[in-house]
Amino acid sequence: MVFKKKIVTVGKSSIVRKQVEKKVSPRAASRNNRPAPPVVEEKPVIRTKGVPQVLRGMKDVLPAEQKFWRQIRHTAEDLAEAYGFERIETPILESTPLFVRSVGVQTDVVEKEMFSFIDRGGDNVTLRPEGTAPVVRSYINHGMFSLPQPVKLYYLGPMFRYERPQQGRFRQHNQFGVEVFGDENPVLDAEIMLLAHLFYRGIGVSSVVHVNSLGCSDCRPRYREELVAYYRSKRSQLCEDCKRRISKNPLRLLDCKEDGCSALKEEAPQILDSLDEACKEHLMKVLEYLDDLQVPYVLDPHLVRGFDYYTRTVFELLPEEGETKTALGGGGRYDGLVEQLGGRPTPACGFGIGLERAILQMKSQEIEPSQNDTPDVFLAQLGDNARRKAFVLFEELRVAGIRLAGNFTKGSLKSQLEIANRLGARYTVILGQQEVIDGTILVRDMESGMQEIVDSKKAVSELKKKIGRG
Ligand code: HAM
Repeated sequence: MVFKKKIVTVGKSSIVRKQVEKKVSPRAASRNNRPAPPVVEEKPVIRTKGVPQVLRGMKDVLPAEQKFWRQIRHTAEDLAEAYGFERIETPILESTPLFVRSVGVQTDVVEKEMFSFIDRGGDNVTLRPEGTAPVVRSYINHGMFSLPQPVKLYYLGPMFRYERPQQGRFRQHNQFGVEVFGDENPVLDAEIMLLAHLFYRGIGVSSVVHVNSLGCSDCRPRYREELVAYYRSKRSQLCEDCKRRISKNPLRLLDCKEDGCSALKEEAPQILDSLDEACKEHLMKVLEYLDDLQVPYVLDPHLVRGFDYYTRTVFELLPEEGETKTALGGGGRYDGLVEQLGGRPTPACGFGIGLERAILQMKSQEIEPSQNDTPDVFLAQLGDNARRKAFVLFEELRVAGIRLAGNFTKGSLKSQLEIANRLGARYTVILGQQEVIDGTILVRDMESGMQEIVDSKKAVSELKKKIGRG
């Protein structure tokens, strides 16, 4: 039998990579009491002609960024599960009417921002712009009202909005969201605000919750009328969008970022004056619980949110530090939505936190992810025999729980030690021809440069002792 060697040729790469060494923050340098390795970021210089590009407002998450993502995902999962939330995953693609009926026809999201298209079967579908409506659909579809209430769910995943890209605003972003169904007790509103606040505390960011109440279907119409009357009297100062919205969705005027409109907000009537007794009582209880739980908050009587489904509590999280005033997260109560989508009357509340914004905030405050992905041991090998043995040893050490790195393609010890240094490994295990013959390994302390010969049968136990896990 004749084996043909398969030759794979790779065309000239169109990406020229530059390695840029960034300064390392003092906090990172002091970790482990030794100089932190320089962070090497790959900065591609891309020849654009004829090369497909990532879509506007979307981005690749490269390996250098993964430590941030790992930390925020772990923080979110640990926290949600500790507070009794169970994970739910819904499809990224949903029927368009789901969002039109829940988010609202007059909202920016439905009017301008949805990625909607007709699929091959003729159905009108949409890449989910937010997570609440799909979770409500799922709650109804799966008869979750028959489970013990409240049903507490959380999710992590991408959302899509065709917005004008800018700092902290992407066309694909990721959210950590929670939704609680089946109870209108204000303690739940406070609990989810606590959770959002604790999530940020878990990644080293201090946040403040801005809270308001939008009332219910009984008291909101009164407020609407007052708002319409106020804005009608100022019509000439409004932007074109707001002029159009006055009678259809006047609450949205409070959220307009145009200079003329936002100046008018200060004098606009406040909903707190129109709340009925039950809604006022609900809000007061929420604030009392926030006091008890020591969640920093501001009562913000003009706060509104971009979706029509909210009733009573609405809130947004803003960073305590830094220049940015874009919301780190937001949510509220939506007691009418389950029924509106065809389910039984079911009070509910939840929030969504933008994970890209969480990472931007960490970076702007120079917070290093605390997840330790520095290897304890780098495994270096010299020569073919040693390489074969090194594969076996690598797996033994990995199974024993030692954080490892290695490079099986590099031949010279110098280049492997350089990599070990760059990764910040505490020890390098060297396996050369002589060690293979002697049945030993050489363990090099990367800080002192001291080397020690160890019987390869004792490699796992000796290394575990050295790294303090023996
Ligand atoms: P939202 O305020 O539209 O609420 O989004 C939640 C968070 O996602 C925002 O506060 C922000 O941090 C982030 N975010 C939104 N749009 C973008 C974007 N284009 N680029 C980057 N980050 C963004 C909701 O989506 C509701 N479903 C939250 C909720 C859950 N309410 C009740 N339950």
